[in-house]
Amino acid sequence: MTHFSVRSATQADDEFMVDMLAEAMNWLPERNWSRDQIMADPQLAHYVAGWMRPNDVGLVAVDPADRPVGAAWLRYLTAADQGYGYVGDDVPELTIGVVEPWRGRGVGRALLRAVLDTAREHGIPRVSLSVERANFAARLYAAEGFRTVDSFEDADTMVAEIGA
Ligand SMILES: CC(C)(COP(=O)(O)OP(=O)(O)OC[C@H]1O[C@@H](n2cnc3c(N)ncnc32)[C@H](O)[C@@H]1OP(=O)(O)O)[C@@H](O)C(=O)NCCC(=O)NCCS
Repeated sequence: MTHFSVRSATQADDEFMVDMLAEAMNWLPERNWSRDQIMADPQLAHYVAGWMRPNDVGLVAVDPADRPVGAAWLRYLTAADQGYGYVGDDVPELTIGVVEPWRGRGVGRALLRAVLDTAREHGIPRVSLSVERANFAARLYAAEGFRTVDSFEDADTMVAEIGA
């Protein structure tokens, strides 16, 4: 049995969120961007910089000893500072990552469902993301209701209409 639970993220999770952003960026084994490289790149750092902002929506999965093992969060970016999955100032963008030993054990799907439920509770009607097409995560997103709305060379922008 795999035991984990999901809780709301807090300000104190700021370092872990950087770790999970690094997991998301380094999904290809040959990619190995350090935390410092990621935080020095404004295009990447803006997914976590200043965590947590008043309108960030974040969840953390924890193991039975309360150690964080994954996170999913939504952040609003702007036309002037767009994320890779930007579709509008009013549509927050999803980031998700699970620590390697915990992958393939249901944590990612649970986090994804929970963050979409939380968004719904907040009255957020749409959530977007960017996924490199070769990443199996694209199939997970599609299975959980995301649809491709834009395609680039290697990556797709996907949106989930989650209603109120
Ligand atoms: C993507 C990620 C968040 C998914 O979380 P996870 O806990 O591993 O996923 P789950 O265990 O909930 O599995 C979800 C589905 O993906 C499938 N899956 C899991 N690992 C897989 C793999 N390596 N290859 C193909 N499919 C896989 C599972 O079979 C499951 O589908 P099923 O329920 O129909 O069997 C996690 O693997 C991760 O952090 N990867 C690296 C970072 C990343 O790619 N982030 C997303 C960037 S857009």
